[in-house]
Formats: sequence, structure tokens, C-alpha cells
Amino acid sequence: MHVLVTGGAGYIGSHTCVELLSRSDRVTILDNLSNSSLEAIRRVEELGGGRVNFHKVDILDRTGLEDVFEQNIDTPFDAVIHFAGKKAVGESVEKPLLYYHNNITGTINLVEVMEQYGVRNLIFSSSATVYGEPASLPISEECSTSACTNPYGWTKLMIEQILTDMQFARPEWNVLLLRYFNPVGAHKSGRIGEDPNGIPNNLMPYITQVAIGRLKQLSVFGDDYDTPDGSGVRDFIHVVDLALGHVAALKKFTDNPGCYVCNLGTGKGYSVLDMVKTFSEACGREISYKIAPRRAGDIASCYADPGKAARELGWQAQYNLRDMCEDSWRWQQQNPEGYGKQD
Ligand code: NAD
Ligand code: WQD
Repeated sequence: MHVLVTGGAGYIGSHTCVELLSRSDRVTILDNLSNSSLEAIRRVEELGGGRVNFHKVDILDRTGLEDVFEQNIDTPFDAVIHFAGKKAVGESVEKPLLYYHNNITGTINLVEVMEQYGVRNLIFSSSATVYGEPASLPISEECSTSACTNPYGWTKLMIEQILTDMQFARPEWNVLLLRYFNPVGAHKSGRIGEDPNGIPNNLMPYITQVAIGRLKQLSVFGDDYDTPDGSGVRDFIHVVDLALGHVAALKKFTDNPGCYVCNLGTGKGYSVLDMVKTFSEACGREISYKIAPRRAGDIASCYADPGKAARELGWQAQYNLRDMCEDSWRWQQQNPEGYGKQD
């Protein structure tokens, strides 16, 4: 199978490309490297034991996109996994047009060029953020999706709608909307992992940077939620499990065409304080933290009903919280500055 992976140099994309390469798929990455580096692609090749065909292209660049499809016309793409997008919630509140333009216009460009070249199998990276404040737990795919709390979340929901409408009009298309819960962890080798720009917003990279001494102390945002220990509860999922979810999803394309939505989560909720404790045990160091006020826009609890992915994709998460912490720590320890400035 020849798979085009947009955003394949990024955190989830790089882990997915390793899994694809190691099962002998042909992999082409398209990425503008706005939030990633060539070094990640070199390491993907090292871990996957194969070569990646890389194009430094922006999905907003229509001609650049067409060139990628044109250059691969003799070995056309069987499927596209579309990770490329901006993902910083806070930045999306400050720069909404940048997010709507990059994520939505970019996706429309991609889909139009796919149609032009007759490539009609698409996996899209959606997010549990589309559920907003969930009405009930665990969150199944049937839960309502109309109350996003930030422009980033809206881009995901709007793209889901656009792709659903497009597939309805073109029933020969296969569209899979995968809603990820909270990806953490890193490849077991410690060679690839999450490399956020600046001070991390997300919990795991913040904790790893406290552990390595780059940051002083974690602020735990709220200890008065209606949860077992008062801190927020999330469905943390190992990024390698998530990558394997995409591999399983690709098989779906051999079945009947349609537009499917599927959660990718573990089904288990752990609190922020559970994470701090487990990480501390995994790295053998105290994680300094203080209780701080709730963060605006946060919800108390969020975890998946993972049943549909098990039934329909034959996939379920394998790694536990301790694995996630150990692997994130190995990546951080071996790469204290992330990928650095090798490019
Ligand atoms: P990431 O930032 O590490 O990867 C995204 C990649 O897309 C980067 O390599 C970036 O350079 C590239 N990119 C961005 N805009 C582009 C453009 N216009 N043209 C070409 N390339 C572009 O993010 P990630 O964590 O790997 O997330 C991958 C996808 O999954 C994103 O769409 C994200 O919204 C979604 N997602 C992420 C999470 C999460 O917590 N990490 C959760 C749910 C969904
Ligand atoms: C997790 C928990 C925080 C940092 C975000 C996006 C979502 C998706 C995944 C892309 C919360 C607490 C955090 C810190 C803390 N991304 N926390 N101190 O907010 O669940 O989801 O990433 O689609 O769209 O919103 O993840 O890692 O930021 O927070 O106490 O320094 O950790 O309050 O309870 P979140 P997160």
C-alpha cells in the first residue's frame, strides 16, 4: 500500500510512519515543517527500516500539492492519512483566522487534489475536543458534538462536517474521522517523541520538562473538580497505540465505502495527580507541583467508550499509564532539547 501522510514529520505522524514502514508500506510524507523537523523523518527511517519519500510542501499551496500527486502518478497513493494542521488551543483563541485558514482551507485543498487524481481513501485526525463538555461518560461516538470551547476545536468539527457532506455527495469515497483522546508517550527506542515549541501547554510534556529540570514546577489546574481526587481526568493514550489505530483503520478501506467516525482512546480515565504520581515513580524523581486555579475552558472528566474501534477496526489500546510515563521519560532524557536545531 502507498500511503501519503500529511503532517508525517509531527508527533503522531512520525510514530504512525514508523509503524507503516515497518510493515513494508510505501510511505510519502508531506509536511511544511512548521512544527517539526527533518531530523524526525531521518529517525522514522532509522526505526522503520525503510526510506520515506519526503516533500516539503504546505497544504495551502495548491500547486505544490498537485506536484506531489503528479510526481507519484506511476505509484499512486492508495490512501491519505491527514495529520497536517495547527493544534495549539491557546494560539487558536488569539489567532482564529490562522487556524480556520490553515486547517480548513488546507483540508479542502487536499481533498480537491485527491479527487482530481482519483485518490478517495482518507483518514482525518479529529479530536475528542469536538465533544466539548460531555453530557455523559464514557463518551461514545453518538454523544453530541456541538459545543466546542475554542477555534481549534471548531476547525475539527467543521472539517468533520465538510468531509461528511463531501462523502455523501461522492459515495465512492471512504472517509474515516478518528477522534483522538489525549496522546502521550513516545516510541520505545526514545528516538522519536513529542517536541513542543516553547513552554508546553499540555500536561505530559510539561511534566517531562519539570523532571529534566528545564521547568521548575508544574501547576495542577484545579483540585476541586467533581472527580475522585479533585484534579481533571483524561483518557491518556500511548502514541504508539494511536499509530497502530491508524494501521488498523487503513484495513477498513478494503470494506465498503462510507463515512465513519471512531474514537481512539483507552476507555480509562486517569487524573492529573495520578499522572504526576505515576510519572514520578517511572523516572525515580519527585515532580514538584502546586495546586493552581482551574484553566479556562477545561472540563472535569473526559474518557472514551472505545467499543466501536474494537468492534469495527479490530483495534484496542495495549499500553498502560506506566508505559506512557516510562516512554515519555526515555525520550525526554535522551533528547533533553527535543530534536534540537539539526536542520
Ligand atoms: P504536530 O504539530 O506534531 O504535527 C502536525 C504536523 O503538521 C507538523 O509536522 C506540522 O509541521 C504540519 N503542518 C501544520 N500545518 C501544515 C500545513 N499548512 N502544511 C503542511 N504541514 C503542516 O501535531 P500532532 O500532535 O502530531 O497532531 C497531528 C494531528 O492530530 C493534528 O491535526 C492535530 O490537530 C490532531 N490531534 C492531536 C492531538 C494531540 O493532543 N496531539 C489530539 C487530537 C487530535
Ligand atoms: C490535560 C489535563 C489540564 C497542563 C488538549 C486539547 C485537546 C487535545 C488534547 C488536540 C487537564 C491539566 C495541563 C498543566 C495541568 N488536542 N494540566 N497543568 O486540555 O485535555 O486536551 O490536548 O486535539 O483538543 O484541548 O490536554 O494535556 O492540556 O491537559 O494541570 O500544566 O492536565 O487542566 O485537566 P486537554 P492537556
